[in-house]
Order: sequence, then structure tokens, then C-alpha cells
Amino acid sequence: MRRGILTIATVGLLVTGGVTACGDDSGDNDAGSDKKPKIGVILPDSKSSGRWENADRKFLEAAFKAAGVDYDIQNAQDDKSNFQTIADQMITSGVTALMIVNLDSGTGKAVLDKAKSQGVATIDYDRLTLGGSAEYYVSFDNEVVGKLQGEGLTKCLTDKGVQKPVVAYLNGSPTDNNATLFKNGYDSVLKPKFDSGEYVKGPEQSVPAWDNAQGATLFEQMLTQTGGKIDGVLAANDGLGNAAISVLKKNKLNGKVPVTGQDADLQGLQNILAGDQCMTVYKAIKQEADAAAELAIGLAKGERKETGQTVKDPESGRDVPSVLLTPKLIFKENVKDVVADGFVTKEALCTAEYAKLCAEAGIS
Ligand code: BGC
Repeated sequence: MRRGILTIATVGLLVTGGVTACGDDSGDNDAGSDKKPKIGVILPDSKSSGRWENADRKFLEAAFKAAGVDYDIQNAQDDKSNFQTIADQMITSGVTALMIVNLDSGTGKAVLDKAKSQGVATIDYDRLTLGGSAEYYVSFDNEVVGKLQGEGLTKCLTDKGVQKPVVAYLNGSPTDNNATLFKNGYDSVLKPKFDSGEYVKGPEQSVPAWDNAQGATLFEQMLTQTGGKIDGVLAANDGLGNAAISVLKKNKLNGKVPVTGQDADLQGLQNILAGDQCMTVYKAIKQEADAAAELAIGLAKGERKETGQTVKDPESGRDVPSVLLTPKLIFKENVKDVVADGFVTKEALCTAEYAKLCAEAGIS
């Protein structure tokens, strides 16, 4: 999908002047023609994953600066009414394009519809707003993310030689469409194994708002409820993986029970180096931010670029023009690839405690 980005960059532009892919000719997308482009971005929170503040903000800022456009990036801190207030302020302040990572589809849709009614172009960044009206959706192939988690866990359980392993699920937020897609992905790998009796399905919980502390509490309950008989944990991101690992540590089970993750965040990578986490999924956020920024800048100028791909909104049936990037499976052996890609620095990852493990993993 790296090519997808090139395609966007090289395919000719359709200057809209009110022409939209969905045939809307209300003139609500001519924002950029006489106004100075300004992009508003609303990030969801800073606790469910380090990515939003550490990676997305940084890479989006760099892309906007490089293009010389005005921007305003804010974080709703997991507060839906705050999310709507920020959106209102951005619209009033004259943003010409708005990019959101919704906290749920209902409030996301309200924000997108309002922006649209005020002539502000919109992008769903990372999370699709079901029933929404965004001009574009920019993300990773999230079912593939889940599939890699299922495959990663399978490999780690096989390596440990566990027979009929009991696998617990710590799913992402029930209001995040990505969490549904991740689960579809890992179910596609694991459910056939449950059905055949090769694996045993253990307890399963969805973690509201991806809240890591709640994830730890839920996992502790799972461990108690099963009398400690959990052999593998499908945790939907590194934060939830770390929550499970913290409970496993208290029970001296860390390293014995493979745990999955996603985001290749610092803690997740260190957990992998330490042998407490089985795998993570690296999503090159720079590619995602660059693709979204390029589309947003186009929209802000009243231009529409072809992405060459659509995703069907399961709620409205609308084909949303999309960019879906390719995620990468990371085990201990290739943590070094994440460093080589510049996503984390060796200095941050290989602190004293991890120096030896970094050297062993070829991170020099
Ligand atoms: C993102 C993940 C992130 C999670 C929690 C999902 O929508 O795709 O990368 O870990 O939200 O913030």
C-alpha cells in the first residue's frame, strides 16, 4: 500500500468547484477557493495509546509545516462534549478542512455533518465514522492488523508447545469501529481453532474507551475466574497488552503467557524485548499522517484527489474514498525494523535496563 501514497501524489487532481464524489452539488465543498487553507485536527485522547500525541501529532504537524498551511491540532481527551466544543470552535475560527478521530460514531457523525453544513470539508482519520459524511477515510487495513495479531499469537503458542491453549480476549473499545475490524481479523485466524478444538476460547471482554486501567481490572477478573488457566492473551493494542502483562507479573506468569499488542509503542517494544509480550503490529504513522495531510490540504484548497480505493460504510452503504495502508507484524527479531524506520529511537528504547536485550536483538 506504500504505492497507494504514490498514487495519490501522482494522480491528477480533479478541481471540484462543488463537484463531489457522492454527487453533492450543494456547493459545500468549495471552501478553499477563496479562503486561506487551514486544517483542523481533533485527536481522541492521550491515554488509550501513546501514538496520538507522540506520533500522529508530530507527523501531521511536520506535513502541514512542510506544505506551509495553517493548522490547529487539538486533543479531546476522551471527552465527547469537549470533542464537539473543539469542533465548533474550529469551524468558527474558519478551518477549511477538518480531520477527526472519533470517540464514537454518533458524536463523530454530528461533528462531520455540522462541518459539512458549514462548507468545511472532512476526513475520518484512522477510525471510520459509521453513517458519517467524511469525504475521505485514511487508515490502515484494520482487518489485516487483527489477522496479524491472531497469527502472531498462534506462532507464540506453537513455539511454547502449549496443547489446547485457553485464549482470552481483551478487545478494544466497543464504540471504535477499528476494534470491530481488529476482532474480525483475529477471529478469522482463531475461531477455526476454537471450533476444531485445537484451542479453547477463554473469557472475552471489550474495554470501554480502550482504558488501560480498566483493561487490567478486567484481565485480573479473567485470571481469577479461570483459576489462572489462561495460556494466551489476545490484547487489541500495546496499552491493553501492557495492562495484562502487569497482572501476569503480579502472578509471576509474565513471559509464560504470550500477549499480543499493536502500535509498536515504546512500552510494547520493551515488553517484547523482555519476552513478556509476543508481538506487536507496527503501523507507520508517518505514512498515514502524510496521506491524510495531503488529502486535507487538497480539500482545503477545494481540490479532490483520487485515492483509487473505497471502503463501504456498513451503516449507510456509502462507498467512502479511502487510503488503507499496510501494517507489519513485529516479533523480537524485527523490533530493529521499527527503530530503522525512525518510529522510535534507540536512545528511548534501549535504556540501561534494555541495553543488553537491544544488543541481542541487533539494535545497535
Ligand atoms: C487505533 C489504534 C489505537 C486505539 C486506541 C484505534 O482506533 O487504530 O492504533 O491503539 O485506537 O487509541
